[in-house]
Amino acid sequence: MEFANVIVEKDASIAVLTLNRPQQLNALSYDLVKELSLAMQELDRDDEVRVMIVTGGEKVFAAGADIKEMAERGPFDARIQERLAYRDRINRIAKPVIAAVSGFALGGGCELAMSCDIIIASETARFGQPEINLGIIPGSGGTQRLTRTVGKYRAMEMVLAGETMSAADAERFGLVNRVVPVELLLDEAKNLAKKIAAKPVLAIKAAKEAVLKSANTGLDEGLEFERKSFYMLFASEDRTEGMKAFLEKRKPEFKGK
Ligand code: CAA
Repeated sequence: MEFANVIVEKDASIAVLTLNRPQQLNALSYDLVKELSLAMQELDRDDEVRVMIVTGGEKVFAAGADIKEMAERGPFDARIQERLAYRDRINRIAKPVIAAVSGFALGGGCELAMSCDIIIASETARFGQPEINLGIIPGSGGTQRLTRTVGKYRAMEMVLAGETMSAADAERFGLVNRVVPVELLLDEAKNLAKKIAAKPVLAIKAAKEAVLKSANTGLDEGLEFERKSFYMLFASEDRTEGMKAFLEKRKPEFKGK
C-alpha cells in the first residue's frame, strides 16, 4: 500500500501505520485521514494481519485536525462530512489497534489515540483537547471518550481550559496503558502486538467487540452480549484446541477457525 501521508509497513502479522506529515506535526488533513482510514480498512480485510499499530514517530503523534484546511471550510462542506465519515470508519476496525504515542497528541490527535484499543506512550507524550482556543469543541469523540476515561473534572479542565496532560498524569488517570522511554516506544508496542497476534483470532475479535460494547450499553445488555459471544466461541475449533492443549500441557496451535 502506497500513500503520500501514511507509511504502511507489514511485518508478519503486525502492521505499523506511521502518520507522515512531519513538517505540519502530522496535522490530520483530509488526505491523511482518508489514507489512514482506507489503509486500516484494507488491513482489517487482510488475513495475514492480526494487529495494527498507529504511530506518528518519535517526535509527534498528531497536532490535531489541519487548521489551515479547516479555516477555509463551512460547516456543511461536503469534504468535512466526508472526512468525518472516513474518521468514523477508523472506530469500526475489528482488529486490535495499538496507538504508540510520542510528543503531542492534541485535538484530533488525542481523539485518534483514544479511538485505538491500547495506548502506549513515550515519556514525551502530551495529550490535550485545545479546540476551545479555536472557537470550536472536539468533534471526534474528545468530550465523550476522554470524560469516560479520565472523569468529568479532569476532562472539563482539558476541554474548557485547553490544558494538556503529561504522559505521567495520563498513566495515573488511566488514559494510557504505560509510559516508556522514547527509544523503546515502538518495540514496546510491537511486543504487545505480537502477544495479541499469537492468540486465537476469533476470540480476539469477539473480545474487542465485547469490551467496546460496554461503552454503549447498560450492564445487563452488555452481559447478555458477552454471554452470547462466549457461547458462540464454544463452537470454534480454537476453543477445542486451546482447552485440549492446556490439559495435555502443550502449546496450542490455533487456526482461526
Ligand atoms: N494544523 C495545521 N498545521 C499545524 C497544526 C495543525 N493542527 N499544528 C501545527 N501545525 C504546523 C504549524 O502551522 C507550523 O507550520 P509552519 O512551519 O508552516 O508555520 C508547523 O506545524 C510547526 O508548528 P509550530 O511552529 O506551531 O510548532 P511548536 O512546536 O511551536 O508548537 C504546537 C507545537 C503546540 C502543537 C502548536 O503547533 C499548536 O498549538 N498546534 C495546534 C494544536 C491544535 O489546536 N490542535 C487542535 C486542532 S482542531 C481539531 O483537532 C478538531 C478536530 O479534530 C475535529
